[in-house]
Amino acid sequence: MPLPADIQMDLHPKVTPFFDAQSNTIAYVVQEPGGPACVAIDAVMNFDAAAGRLTSESADAMIAHIEAADLQLEWIIETHVHADHLSGAPYLQERLGGKIGIGAQITTVQETFGKVFNEGTAFQRDGSQFDALFTDGDTYHVGAMPCTALHTPGHTPACMVHIMGDAVFAGDTLFMPDGGSARADFPGGDAVQLYDSIQRVLALPDEMRLFVCHDYGPGGRAIAWETTIAEQRAANIHVGDGASREAFVAMREARDAQLAMPKLILPALQVNMRAGDVPEDDAGNMVLKIPVNRI
Ligand SMILES: [Fe+2]
Repeated sequence: MPLPADIQMDLHPKVTPFFDAQSNTIAYVVQEPGGPACVAIDAVMNFDAAAGRLTSESADAMIAHIEAADLQLEWIIETHVHADHLSGAPYLQERLGGKIGIGAQITTVQETFGKVFNEGTAFQRDGSQFDALFTDGDTYHVGAMPCTALHTPGHTPACMVHIMGDAVFAGDTLFMPDGGSARADFPGGDAVQLYDSIQRVLALPDEMRLFVCHDYGPGGRAIAWETTIAEQRAANIHVGDGASREAFVAMREARDAQLAMPKLILPALQVNMRAGDVPEDDAGNMVLKIPVNRI
């Protein structure tokens, strides 16, 4: 698989991480070199499922940073439909503007979960809740900085990895080298596809900075989010050192069979497949469903 032609390793965007301790998510604000334009990646809303309470501390921290640095938010990127937290994308958009973008295969995710949640015909399954749907190799700009989206299915059908200058945002394809890779057992997930997607990421330039979407601090180490392609290729515990597809798939499937569902999967999917909007009842109240024995 050829590398994207427009990788510019001499562009060094400023990357500011925002760690959400409830979901172990790292969101990012990425600023174009030498300009005020920025992009927010995987913004988080805080949700207390027991209380049904939605709050915005995590997204507010991103907004405060963008406002304090006088940045212009041009894009709000979702690397995929997250199952472990609710998206802060529309909250950011309402306050700061910007276009919400996700992978075009969101339509597959909407089909699958439209059925699980027994959504009516009012729920569009065409991705129209988002401002932009990316396909493999699509480019867009943040100010003058060109960005490229790679389609990297496996964890979910709509996963995209985003390349911005010398930085790559891996979404849930890869964790830190000692964390390995993300699960591939959600509906539409596929361990074989995940391996092949990861190989495309590992083929990027050695010195490219790689930023992960989640970190769980394995073995009690401090939370971390930044590594390099070279470090991943050498030392990733699931795919490093030339691990074979067969070995990876066997490991991934055995491991996934042991994993519990993420605590927020049911609220998260309903909201995130709508680009972060919470569904409403006929009276306009925000409500979420808990379908029983469906996933
Ligand atoms: Fe994920």
